[in-house]
Amino acid sequence: MQQSHTPSSVSIQPRNRRFDIASALSRDWFDNNAFITAWHNSLSITFPLGEKFFIDSVRHFASQIEDEKLKAEIRGFCGQEGFHRREHELYNETLCNARGYDLTLLEGRVARRLEFARRRFDPMTQLAITVALEHITAVMAEFHLRNDSPFRGKPEKAMEELWHWHGAEELEHKSVAFDVYRAMNGTEAMRISALRRTTVLIIWRALTGMLHMFRKDGNLFSLRVWAQGAKFLLGREGLFRSVWPSYKQFFKPDFHPWQIDTQDILRDWEAGQLSAT
Ligand SMILES: [Fe+2]
Ligand SMILES: [Fe+2]
Repeated sequence: MQQSHTPSSVSIQPRNRRFDIASALSRDWFDNNAFITAWHNSLSITFPLGEKFFIDSVRHFASQIEDEKLKAEIRGFCGQEGFHRREHELYNETLCNARGYDLTLLEGRVARRLEFARRRFDPMTQLAITVALEHITAVMAEFHLRNDSPFRGKPEKAMEELWHWHGAEELEHKSVAFDVYRAMNGTEAMRISALRRTTVLIIWRALTGMLHMFRKDGNLFSLRVWAQGAKFLLGREGLFRSVWPSYKQFFKPDFHPWQIDTQDILRDWEAGQLSAT
């Protein structure tokens, strides 16, 4: 029985990579832009615990999957998210040590939210949350890796490599949780409602993390930084407008993540052609 809908040209391959990011993390590594740097740093804080939640919610159903291809993809997915966790744990520790941010406070907020989700929701709802967050991750990955993206070519080299590696693997495994959810007869209504809720939560979590960082950096009332934020998030080439066309497709009935074809991005990344722009 076919349950996997990842294209046959895409292999979900965990790559055990390490990145020399310690010195970049002590600075505003994105083109000297404090807002965009803090946005990514704040998202990074949520990853190790978030990715653990994703792995657990997918693994819960692994024994009920019959398609050998999807079973292998679940293993690839867990392997990739496992390496992402390791690299972002190191990222977060190094970042907080270098810049004086309170990692216990920042991670504690994420941990409490996820604990609440584990206690409150059944495994199917937790999987719907993972499906929704994986969609958000995949559209963010497109933003990082697309040819005409404002992200390309601006960050310090090692940071760009790390975010590209993470983004590319997110694109490779973007439909694994989704395919498991479909195979387990998850409803369209629940996945759509999960996306609405998780979008608000992840933006809130990113922004509250950034407020802590700005306070520590003495940037909280900097007009320059908030102007950078308005341009990055809301501007014509900004994040929200860039991701919107892909993001909103999730609300279509019968949506599948590979209806957004990102195989060209993966081919370019594998061929090492991304940083040429
Ligand atoms: Fe990841
Ligand atoms: Fe992922």
